[in-house]
Amino acid sequence: MDAAGWDERYRGTELVWTAAPNRFVEGELAGLPAGRAVDVAAGEGRNAVWLGERGWDVDAVDFSAVALAAKAETLAAERGVQLRTHCTDLTAWDAPEAAYDLALIAYLQLPWPQVSQVLRLAATAVRSGGTLLLVGHDASNREHGFGGPQDPRVLYTAEQAAAEWRPYARILRAETVTRPVDGPEGPRTAIDSLVRAERL
Ligand SMILES: C[S@@+](CC[C@H](N)C(=O)[O-])C[C@H]1O[C@@H](n2cnc3c(N)ncnc32)[C@H](O)[C@@H]1O
Repeated sequence: MDAAGWDERYRGTELVWTAAPNRFVEGELAGLPAGRAVDVAAGEGRNAVWLGERGWDVDAVDFSAVALAAKAETLAAERGVQLRTHCTDLTAWDAPEAAYDLALIAYLQLPWPQVSQVLRLAATAVRSGGTLLLVGHDASNREHGFGGPQDPRVLYTAEQAAAEWRPYARILRAETVTRPVDGPEGPRTAIDSLVRAERL
C-alpha cells in the first residue's frame, strides 16, 4: 500500500491500532536506559509515545502524514510527550549514521528487498552498543496464525531479518513469538517474528 492508501486508512478519529505499546516492544525495551531512539514506520505512534513516556528522545518516521500529524502527535500531546515526526518514505530514508541508541521497527510489511534495505539503514543509524529491535508478522502467520497481511510477498521470518543484521550486530534473539488476538469466533493466536540485536 502506498502513502495515500495508508493516509486513507488512518483518516478518522479512531485509532487503527491501539494507544498501548506492542507487548514485545514493551517486554524487550522496558529495562533499557533511555537515550535517543528512532521508531521506523511509527504509524500512530503507540510505541514511540511509550518510549517518550519512559524518557526517550524519539524520532518517529513514517510516510503517512495523517498517521503522524493527526494521530501520533495528538497521542504524544495527550501524554505530555515530545515527539519529532518525519514524514518520509523509508525506501528513500536519509538515515543519520550512528545517531541513535535504539532503532525500533514494528510491523513494517513490505516486499523483502525494501525491508532488507530499511533493516540495513536502521542498523547503520544505531551507534555501537545500541539496540536494534524488529517485530513483524511472521511468514508462518498466514497459514498457522491469525490476522495480519495475507500477501506472502510482504511476510518474512526472524532468521531472514537476523541475517540482514548479522554483518552489523550481535543477534541476541531471532525467533517466532505468539500474541493472543480476538477473532470473530473467539480468541486466536498471531505469530510474529522478533529479532533483537546489539550493534557492533
Ligand atoms: C502496520 S503499521 C505499523 C505501525 C507501528 N509501527 C505500530 O506498530 O503500531 C505499518 C506502518 O508502516 C508505514 N509504512 C509502510 N510503508 C512505508 C514506507 N515505504 N515508508 C514509510 N512508512 C511506511 C505505514 O504508513 C504504517 O504506518
